[in-house]
Amino acid sequence: MKMTTPDLDLVASIKDKYFQQFGDDHAIQVFRSPGRINLIGEHTDYNNGFVLPASVDKAVYFVISPREDNLVKLYAADLDETYSFSLDDLTKPAKSWPHYQIGIVEQIQKRGLEISGFQAAFGGNVPVGAGLSSSAALECCLLYALDEIFGLGLGRLDIVKMSQKAENEYVGVQCGIMDQFASAFGVSESVMRLDCRTLDLEYFPFPMDEYMIVLCDTSVKHSLASSEYNTRRLECEKGVEILKKYDPAIQSLRDASPELVEAHRDELGDVVYRRCKFITEEIQRVLDACELLVEGNLPAFGSKMYETHDGLQHEYEVSCPELDFLVLQTRNNPDVIGARMMGGGFGGCTINLVKKTTVDAFEEEMKVAYQKQYNIDLPCYRVKITDGTGEIV
Ligand code: GLA
Repeated sequence: MKMTTPDLDLVASIKDKYFQQFGDDHAIQVFRSPGRINLIGEHTDYNNGFVLPASVDKAVYFVISPREDNLVKLYAADLDETYSFSLDDLTKPAKSWPHYQIGIVEQIQKRGLEISGFQAAFGGNVPVGAGLSSSAALECCLLYALDEIFGLGLGRLDIVKMSQKAENEYVGVQCGIMDQFASAFGVSESVMRLDCRTLDLEYFPFPMDEYMIVLCDTSVKHSLASSEYNTRRLECEKGVEILKKYDPAIQSLRDASPELVEAHRDELGDVVYRRCKFITEEIQRVLDACELLVEGNLPAFGSKMYETHDGLQHEYEVSCPELDFLVLQTRNNPDVIGARMMGGGFGGCTINLVKKTTVDAFEEEMKVAYQKQYNIDLPCYRVKITDGTGEIV
């Protein structure tokens, strides 16, 4: 795949670090896999619904070469740390960053595929913990690289599914399929509508001439994030159990409608009702938002983003005061046509559609307000939509 936007300085610096670590007598290859944004469709992936993500110009890079023995030697350039393991011993180490790489090797072995050892330096500029899925980028990057180097014959879809499994089974996070999909299948200047039930993919050009995508990073990650994520999954399953009694065809909330949820409001109970209401409406919202994109009505698309935020805040309850504050700041700003929290929630970034000519002023205002409220210097990232996972040649 042709790479449109490798960060060449970053690649050069990771290459240098590879050579310092492993010497320069190896034939290396370099791979890139990007972080992702999600325009609309939050928490819908594990409910078999639709999502609308895109891969961006912040990415993970691996500089890698095979070894003749069965050792894996890793150098984390951003942390200046090393970790080595043998392909015969995938015991989980106390240090957490190698879990992703070991999880990928485990998936390869579970498929009955064979590789020899390898050595790699990796790093990148996807902010960690900001909700851009640096972990999915890392998994997809390594698996894509190993597929190329060892000729494993995997397709892009295998890479996505195995990377998600590595995260579910080895890392121990019950994420859906959106992040890995977005990283591996991204296309420059397009958002992708993924049907998480059939895995059908449709690309829509995302116009970037008048508006810019700006992420505002709360710089907080509340500890609730992973436990509440799993609780939401269970609450949705509970909703499905109840609704199924009235229509056996309902296997997931994708198969239910907001009307059906409303009809069984009392039986669902307040909490499960609000979870199901949000998800069934959000699935429909993705479809409506795509129609607006096709019509070229970006302001109406942006209004849908605000609706999503309201639902995530009040009904799905995965937002937090810092995210709500940042979204609230934009509500009366005529230069911002859409804003909402992005990703799993309880911290990370808001995603904002901001009139291009006013981005400097927007960032300045947001920084001042956030500093005043939380005494935190607000990082803002202007992102461009780029191609997905690939080799840099
Ligand atoms: C996290 C998960 C995704 C998805 C989002 C919420 O990013 O990894 O699978 O569920 O949260 O939309």
